Amino acid sequence: MVQAYISGTGFYVPPRVVTNDDLIRNYGVDTTSEWIVQRTGIEARRFADEGVGTSDMAALAARDALAAATLQPHDLDLIIVATLSPEHAFPGSGVFLQQKLGLCDGDNAKFVPALDVRNQCSGFLYALSTAVAHVRAGMAKHVLVCGAETHSAALDLSTDGRTVSSLFGDGAGAVIVSATDADRGVRGVYLGADGRFAEVLCQKIWDIRKRPFIPKNPDRSGTVAPEMLWASMDGKLVFKHAVGTMLGALMRACGNNNIGIEDIDLFLFHQANMRINQFIAHQLHVPDEKIPHNIQRYGNTTAATIPILLAECVRDGRLRPGMKVAMAAFGSGFTWGSAIIDW
Ligand code: ACO
Repeated sequence: MVQAYISGTGFYVPPRVVTNDDLIRNYGVDTTSEWIVQRTGIEARRFADEGVGTSDMAALAARDALAAATLQPHDLDLIIVATLSPEHAFPGSGVFLQQKLGLCDGDNAKFVPALDVRNQCSGFLYALSTAVAHVRAGMAKHVLVCGAETHSAALDLSTDGRTVSSLFGDGAGAVIVSATDADRGVRGVYLGADGRFAEVLCQKIWDIRKRPFIPKNPDRSGTVAPEMLWASMDGKLVFKHAVGTMLGALMRACGNNNIGIEDIDLFLFHQANMRINQFIAHQLHVPDEKIPHNIQRYGNTTAATIPILLAECVRDGRLRPGMKVAMAAFGSGFTWGSAIIDW
């Protein structure tokens, strides 16, 4: 049976570094770097400049991953973008990415399917699972999977919004999922969701049950109330569920593959809060060196955290051929996922 493996990884983060102190200095947020570092581990994040969108960053990460896989955009059979911050309500960022990769140009156009996955922090694992299914079913040979977010455009960067806005940053990560006859690659992706918690962590913006869906002013412009405009989160509840659910997702992944936690060489966890990941590591008795982090530098880039971390680990040699990798993520929905990969 054909296997699916990751043939290339890449990432892009915007150059503008925003430290915790910059949140105070430049935006007037009433916080301290100590508060943010102590609770989350975050020291800085990257913000894209105005004019840069999610598919712009995804395109740079995608080109990086294609180069690593020694492939061209025209080798792709499917494009999947995981994001909660697409350019527009519709269409999704996938088609903008397709254009930016030159796949719609002239006689050489290749109109491969392009889709968006809207599963927030676990979006990359949902997208990976879709890519793996296409490859294993023989429907695609090379699939581009990007996780990309432009959070900075939609953060309440005032003291009112500090609980959420101090956590998030911009960036994109990409992988190419390719077919192989070799006995390696993605052994399984295990997903879950619990819609009872759909409103615990959300950014509503509109209510489609209303007519019109956004309240309309006499001049035909719309007004979005602050409680609809900004993301809201019950942080403590999310934290509690994240720990238990990610532990369960990891155990499920190990059980399905007849391996133990001690057989895993590298754990790539979603970067929502370093304390969540340290707590999981402690529960599983996993040594620190097996759990890399980049939340200190990038904050939470939602669907992009795992592919950015993966690309960094490949680049700096922490991830080498033959190693066994576990991934786990949890977030809004609630949705979650885990994966086992023989690298
Ligand atoms: N600086 C200073 N004070 C702050 C800040 C800040 N940046 N943010 C909040 N506070 C204040 C609050 O206003 C509150 O003050 P009050 O007691 O006077 O009302 C106090 O600190 C405590 O606030 P809590 O929200 O209870 O703080 P908590 O200890 O729970 O930490 C945190 C908040 C870091 C957000 C934590 O709950 C967390 O990390 N939760 C998980 C987040 C997560 O995983 N999200 C999922 C991913 S996101 C996604 O899927 C899109």
